[in-house]
Amino acid sequence: MNSPNSKQQLFDRWAPFYDFWIPSILYQATHQRLLEYVELPEDPNVLDLSCGTGRLLNRLAAAYPSLQGTGLDFSAAMLRQARRSNRHRPRLIFVQGQAAPLRFTDRQFDAIFNTFSFLHYPEPQQVLAEICRVLRPDGTFYWVDPTTNASTGVGYSPVTPNGMRVYSPEVRQQMGTQAGMKHIRHEYLIGKNLLSMFVKVS
Ligand SMILES: C[S@@+](CC[C@H](N)C(=O)[O-])C[C@H]1O[C@@H](n2cnc3c(N)ncnc32)[C@H](O)[C@@H]1O
Repeated sequence: MNSPNSKQQLFDRWAPFYDFWIPSILYQATHQRLLEYVELPEDPNVLDLSCGTGRLLNRLAAAYPSLQGTGLDFSAAMLRQARRSNRHRPRLIFVQGQAAPLRFTDRQFDAIFNTFSFLHYPEPQQVLAEICRVLRPDGTFYWVDPTTNASTGVGYSPVTPNGMRVYSPEVRQQMGTQAGMKHIRHEYLIGKNLLSMFVKVS
């Protein structure tokens, strides 16, 4: 399995080509579908955790003119691309950091987005606990990743040779609930890319 550092280097190397890579085009189409399920309060303050090149935040900022957004990622090269293509300065900012622990204060965000990234985290339950901590009560967590039909029961799904974990809908639901969130719905966006929505219990 890749170490966190080698993963970071992998994403750094990938960043200059990321937006032109075929699966990224599918990711962007999935972001567009995700917007159909997004509901935000007035003047929302949102976090895109592992934002990559910032495409989703730019899309959200265009749809919600009063939205303030923070994109966090551990790859400096991904963030360079995100800052370069930031069309909504100063409403959108991009900062470097790990998915856990998060560098934010408790209850800071109205919504948190995580797309095509959760499957890379070596400590998934710790990330969910941090998401829950920085989400305000009744705030929403939008988790989008490919899923598997195989129910893996309690615990994590097997780790692939690339250090990725694919979670079944049942396992996601269980993990979010354990972290202190209420599961709201599952929706398939494109193919096996599943949106799991949670609300932080007040
Ligand atoms: C496949 S990309 C997805 C990017 C973006 N969310 C999207 O939908 O296009 C995965 C991203 O997760 C970031 N990432 C992976 N592990 C991370 C970690 N432990 N902490 C912060 N970012 C991480 C990578 O740097 C990369 O930008």
